[in-house]
Amino acid sequence: MKGVILAGGLGTRLFPLTKITNKHLLPVFDRPMIYYPIEALVKAGVEDIMIVTGGRKSGDFLSLLGNGSDFGLKHLNYTYQKGEGGIAEALGLAEHWAAGESICVILGDNIIERNIVNMVSEFRAQEKGAKILLKQVHDPERFGVAEIDGDKVVSIIEKPTEPVSDLAVIGIYMYDSRVFDVIKTLEPSSRGELEITDVNNWYIRDGSMTYEVLEGWWTDAGTFESLHHASSLVAKGGANRVDQAEHA
Ligand code: G1P
Repeated sequence: MKGVILAGGLGTRLFPLTKITNKHLLPVFDRPMIYYPIEALVKAGVEDIMIVTGGRKSGDFLSLLGNGSDFGLKHLNYTYQKGEGGIAEALGLAEHWAAGESICVILGDNIIERNIVNMVSEFRAQEKGAKILLKQVHDPERFGVAEIDGDKVVSIIEKPTEPVSDLAVIGIYMYDSRVFDVIKTLEPSSRGELEITDVNNWYIRDGSMTYEVLEGWWTDAGTFESLHHASSLVAKGGANRVDQAEHA
């Protein structure tokens, strides 16, 4: 399985912090935001990673991360998203590199406390389809929200005004190789982007979507409040770190 980290966009909800740099280079407590999704993948045993970036200061990812030696990696892959076409469009740019393998996708501003290795293993054992991770939140209207019936996801609604549950779809997704064909069928949403929620609803209709409820804390970091919250969670409890002393 390969890993894709989506780290493009203009970060407009964090303006003016993002006026001259990329959101994913901003600090979350003691490290740049992009470190956390890389660590989440490496800890889960996914070491073949591509970073999709774009927007301001995209070249700085190379200066910061190089070939990923801080994370024990021999190599990191990069690609560039022109414009603001959305999460699913960004993912589509990894098609050639993914070369028919299944993928684990993480949004570059999502930070988790615990290791997701078990969920990745379960997906590896799943013959085909997709897997999403859910987390109970007090503000579901900010996220994609899942309607659940037993062990099935019935639907996902992106940022609903009247959420049907308090289960947010977090920004970690696992897909089989069909995902790139699904992306090609999408139409832009009202915010003019190709939505990852539309990809997930395709797999729900296909009957091949599974889910897990994430243990430990999770936060995104794309607004002032959530960025501050992310820093305080990391400061208090640490996140899912790769011991960098090991790789110094
Ligand atoms: C995106 C997804 C949303 C998901 C969220 C998790 O939202 O569209 O479904 O719940 O990430 O962070 P965005 O950050 O684009 O508002």
